[in-house]
Amino acid sequence: METNGTRENYEVREHDVLIIGAGGAGLRAAISAAERGFSVGIVTKSLLGKAHTVMAEGGIATALGNVDPEDGWRTHFMDTMKSGKFINNWRMAEIHAKESPDRVYELEQWGALFNRTPEGKISQRPFGGHTYRRLAHIGDRTGLEMIRTLQEKVLATDAEVFMETTVTKLLKKDGRVVGALAYTRESGKFIHFKAKAVVMATGGWGKIFKVTSNSWEGTGDGVILSYDVGAELVDMEMMQFHPTGMVWPPGVRGLLVTEGVRGEGGLLRNAEGRRYMEDYDPEKMELSTRDVVARANYTEVQAGRGSEHGGVYLDITHLGYEGIMKKLPTMYHQFKNLADIDISEEPMEVFPTVHYTMGGVKVDPETCASTVPGLFAAGEVAGGLHGANRLGGNSLSDLLVFGKRAGDGAMAYIEESTHSVDIDEADLQAELRRVLEPLEKKEEGESPYLLQQELQEVMMEHANMMRNEDSLKEGLGKVLGLKDRMEKISVPGSRLFNPGWHTAQDVRYLITISEIIVRTALERRERRGAQWRLDYDGPDEDLGKINFIVTRDAQGEVGIERREIEPMPGHLADLFEEAKV
Ligand code: FUM
Repeated sequence: METNGTRENYEVREHDVLIIGAGGAGLRAAISAAERGFSVGIVTKSLLGKAHTVMAEGGIATALGNVDPEDGWRTHFMDTMKSGKFINNWRMAEIHAKESPDRVYELEQWGALFNRTPEGKISQRPFGGHTYRRLAHIGDRTGLEMIRTLQEKVLATDAEVFMETTVTKLLKKDGRVVGALAYTRESGKFIHFKAKAVVMATGGWGKIFKVTSNSWEGTGDGVILSYDVGAELVDMEMMQFHPTGMVWPPGVRGLLVTEGVRGEGGLLRNAEGRRYMEDYDPEKMELSTRDVVARANYTEVQAGRGSEHGGVYLDITHLGYEGIMKKLPTMYHQFKNLADIDISEEPMEVFPTVHYTMGGVKVDPETCASTVPGLFAAGEVAGGLHGANRLGGNSLSDLLVFGKRAGDGAMAYIEESTHSVDIDEADLQAELRRVLEPLEKKEEGESPYLLQQELQEVMMEHANMMRNEDSLKEGLGKVLGLKDRMEKISVPGSRLFNPGWHTAQDVRYLITISEIIVRTALERRERRGAQWRLDYDGPDEDLGKINFIVTRDAQGEVGIERREIEPMPGHLADLFEEAKV
């Protein structure tokens, strides 16, 4: 422990690699590093095992070909690119499709208990936008089983886990990231983590919206921590609305209803009893891609054909009680316990809920290195793989494939460089003062809770699934108003057990992300995947070749650059030619 007279005290911890976030990507990266003998620290602001990974319930997308032997990496690659409307990073999509089978078999060897085909292979179910039955699953608890398996593996290594610890800043020296400053949520004690490399794996930022499947942790800390140190972000306008979240009772609005329900044959109907997907995608129907199904659900409700509580009906009664308990037990208990609905006898009511962020930290596909030396990113916090719309189940395979690559990439970086991880005491003290400021204001200022609530309402109203210039501009004005008020946040009480103080940290991330999203949504003047501009008729050919890259400019403001996507190489482009897509 270092004590510095009148200066703030902090503890110092040193690791080869610091992993921020303990969801699927963070844990997979930790395994890579720890198994090779590197010292690993894992920081999570929540508890180990409690990650948004568990909200990917229906399965891991991977072309094992167990149920449909025709499947293979090429089809998986093409499905991913088509769903992402071709603004994906094609190399990430290629790596993902090729490597995910190995990562899934590895997970099986580590003890994950997959559902089985009659011959004993890992079973695979259909999901929206996947040509073949491709989702390796454990009932409707796939993410949970994945986290359980990875967690056990990590706990068998020497990796040190710091739970309920919030990172407030990445620390840089000579242009490299060399650690982070954090505090423990229980006591407010500060920790200076020194590290030769940092892997960012904090997940997404659904909490900028009021209705979301994300729980309290989804505040996008990692994307802004990375942006603050100069990392490039890519296609931040692309947010995924999952077509089916609960609508009733109000306390659980937005809670995920897994796509596995539609994968197992669930039917969507409006209040007139019609299978309206006929009007939106007559070929794929309920198994169309998420952007299409979400817009269909939204449109039906807008048109006055919604259910009693403002959703649409999702019916799985044909499976019967036994079938549901075998394939979708979590859904049965969720609806029975929370809404007193027996889904084996009556349909569910569902409506789109903010679920996932396609945009994020721009990374090198081979190593997951960000554009700042020493900083790596994987999982939902990283952008590129999913383009304008992610396919269901591709998130879990993303975590495994790129979590491993991020761990390997960080190790290779450490092996090649000898750099000091010490930083100036003055820089640390300045950050400690900034973090403590809301607690030290003498007069009462803005409430972080109210700012968060107002922001969520602004984003629901102005940056929802359907967007247009006037509304986005109005939304931007409101977000900037909140940004000004953010400077005046004050929080009563001390550092001990103080949720208001934690929310004051979160609000900075939430407001900054919202500003970036609204600004990039204003720039992408077209309809493409999750970005649906009502003031444009369809996709724009030129914008189909563009990623929007965001960086913090010299004045600390949001800088947006249009960057041409590198053309796909022949061996990948030819696949689409051959398939005549
Ligand atoms: O619907 C689901 O089970 C979610 C899966 C995913 O987001 O990949």
